[in-house]
Amino acid sequence: MKRGIFVTFEGSEGAGKSTQVSLLTERLRKLGLPVLTLREPGGTELGEEIRLLIRRVDFAIAPCAEAELLLFLASRAQLVREKILPAIHDGMLVICDRYCDSTIAYQGAARSLSLEKIGPINAFAVGKCIPNITFLLDLDPAEGLRRIHLRHGKESDDRMERESVAFFEKVRAGYLNLAKREPDRFAVLDAHKSIETVHGEIYDLLCQRLGDLMESN
Ligand SMILES: Nc1ncnc2c1ncn2[C@@H]1O[C@H](COP(=O)(O)OP(=O)(O)OP(=O)(O)O)[C@@H](O)[C@H]1O
Ligand SMILES: [Mg+2]
Repeated sequence: MKRGIFVTFEGSEGAGKSTQVSLLTERLRKLGLPVLTLREPGGTELGEEIRLLIRRVDFAIAPCAEAELLLFLASRAQLVREKILPAIHDGMLVICDRYCDSTIAYQGAARSLSLEKIGPINAFAVGKCIPNITFLLDLDPAEGLRRIHLRHGKESDDRMERESVAFFEKVRAGYLNLAKREPDRFAVLDAHKSIETVHGEIYDLLCQRLGDLMESN
């Protein structure tokens, strides 16, 4: 691999992103591939501080939609320059749990910030660092919330996870719309299937796309 590959995972709460990211990471590492796994917001010292800030349940400091967006983008801008670009330059396979599409699906589609405004600042944050492959785990929001409640107990302490099912319906529609617009980058998976089935599909798709990318290089 001369230059690395950048893979992202997207989908709403409880869709199984973190589960699939760790299964894929483990499997690729066992094959001896150089893998760097990151998450958003976070992944750098600055980003992890921003993550804590964003996820605080302290409603007194709950940011307005515009401020929240800029916090996510600050974390992402740092992650791109400090971690993702150097790793790709070194030929690594970079896997990121959420990335630029989360911004469009959450802040754009669900919080109704205009896409004309979000698009350019999102692009400013990531520069030319666009994923080669994005796995979208598509799930009924009610099922996602059920999984989250099973994980945390009924009272989740994550501000985002307290949003209504209607909010997550908009997030889901926002993601599916993005996937329709960029079918070459997105692979949409039915996340209602078992963890093992979804993992198998992701692995097969990744192998196929890696083959295609190498041929085109
Ligand atoms: N395909 C699946 N079937 C049933 N349960 C699943 C499946 N995938 C993940 N889970 C379970 O659902 C819960 C949420 O999964 P996970 O944390 O991977 O989701 P996530 O998309 O990363 O959520 P978040 O957006 O909150 O980070 C976990 O308890 C996990 O074990
Ligand atoms: Mg997760």
